Amino acid sequence: MIRIGHGYDVHAFEPGEFVILAGVKIPYQKQFKAHSDGDVLIHAVCDALLGAIAQGDIGHHFPDTDSAYKGVNSRDLLKKVYELVIKDGFNLSNIDVTIIAQAPKISPFIETMRANLATDLEADISQVNVKATTTEKLGFIGKEEGIAVHSVCLIEKNA
Ligand code: CDP
Ligand code: ZN
Repeated sequence: MIRIGHGYDVHAFEPGEFVILAGVKIPYQKQFKAHSDGDVLIHAVCDALLGAIAQGDIGHHFPDTDSAYKGVNSRDLLKKVYELVIKDGFNLSNIDVTIIAQAPKISPFIETMRANLATDLEADISQVNVKATTTEKLGFIGKEEGIAVHSVCLIEKNA
């Protein structure tokens, strides 16, 4: 049996020194405005996985009104979400991620992001893709007001 899931998240910037994407600290003159560490990439991946098992979204499982999740490391949330996938009897087939960001430049950090995701999802790096695109300076992303991330995943189990 196979299931597909899609996730999407946006975070706004505020002045800072780095952003965290897939657990990787990327130097930049801004950071994410967020209750958690603001790891918008991991949030999109969590939502894709939760979509695939029809269990809602990350805000439902880890409400940002709950002080337990203040400043939380999003990789810990991802591991919890993957436990739900395993509990349902599924394993990850593959995951694909598209970061939509005018800046910072993502490409030097992609291999470390893939490695982090593969670790958290008990997968091989060949099952994990991360890529980036700009919006050619158009819109809120083009004005460097924030970043959006899309993710799709496929999970499978023997019927
Ligand atoms: O249309 P296309 O995505 O090819 O062009 P682009 O948006 O100008 O991105 C060119 C390349 O820069 C992409 O292949 C990305 O890998 C990379 N990129 C990046 O490293 N960091 C970003 N924030 C955006 C794009
Ligand atoms: Zn988020």
